[in-house]
Amino acid sequence: MQNQSAALLRVESLRKVFHSGAADVVALADVNLAVPAGEMVALVGPSGSGKSTLLHLLAALDTPTSGTVYFDGNSLGAFAERELENFRSQAGGFIWQRHQLLADFTAVENVAMPLLIRGNAAGEALRTAREWLGEVGLSNRVQHRAGELSGGEQQRVAIARALITQPKLLLADEPTGDLDEANTESIFELMQSLHHSHHLTSILATHNLSLARRADRVLVLEHGLLMPDDGTFAGRAAGRAASGNSSTLEGRG
Ligand SMILES: Nc1ncnc2c1ncn2[C@@H]1O[C@H](COP(=O)(O)OP(=O)(O)O)[C@@H](O)[C@H]1O
Ligand SMILES: [Mg+2]
Repeated sequence: MQNQSAALLRVESLRKVFHSGAADVVALADVNLAVPAGEMVALVGPSGSGKSTLLHLLAALDTPTSGTVYFDGNSLGAFAERELENFRSQAGGFIWQRHQLLADFTAVENVAMPLLIRGNAAGEALRTAREWLGEVGLSNRVQHRAGELSGGEQQRVAIARALITQPKLLLADEPTGDLDEANTESIFELMQSLHHSHHLTSILATHNLSLARRADRVLVLEHGLLMPDDGTFAGRAAGRAASGNSSTLEGRG
């Protein structure tokens, strides 16, 4: 199906059921969603509500039980394996809660890795990676091994690695979940700034409601369903804060 709207990403009747042992787990029941190009969306919801599952399906890292993900008007389900590989390696950048860097490799080698895997020349890949390390504020850590960097620095390297292929889409699964408050703020600001300067479309799963409210739109997942966007989210979040809970949803995912 060709592009019928300006949405870069469209999700129709998306369902994902995991068969684990004797029981079926409905991770996503029936999710419908359209994300216009340029939007920054925060995805919140309690642990187990399906946030990671949804991000994995959007990144074509997993396949739905039923339903369709459209990227730029094209159904991921209709892609041949080769097209899926292109999509994974070029269309979307993914940032995880735990950065998943190669600890024994240097920062610049980690950032260059997606280009090296693609078969780009090493010198060119490393030069581009060095530029990206500059963009994320790590010009002074280029030759450090990833395992020697602080948590916040590691997440900056992961962001540079996710963006070096110049994807249109940035998917982040609780990227600040392991960071302290100061690093959470600076990583979020970095993501926001890169979102604008690189004209990205970004989806950020987070437990941090005060960060979520700074996105263009907040989506709330509960029990594998997106809650209607009735404008009450900010009110609910404020209520939670006022009732003495921190501005974080209960549980972790
Ligand atoms: N690979 C899997 N096999 C079986 N169940 C899974 C698997 N991945 C996720 N689930 C289940 O699906 C539900 C949604 O999980 P997840 O998407 O990780 O939620 P969240 O990221 O919001 O915490 C949970 O009940 C989880 O236990
Ligand atoms: Mg999760």
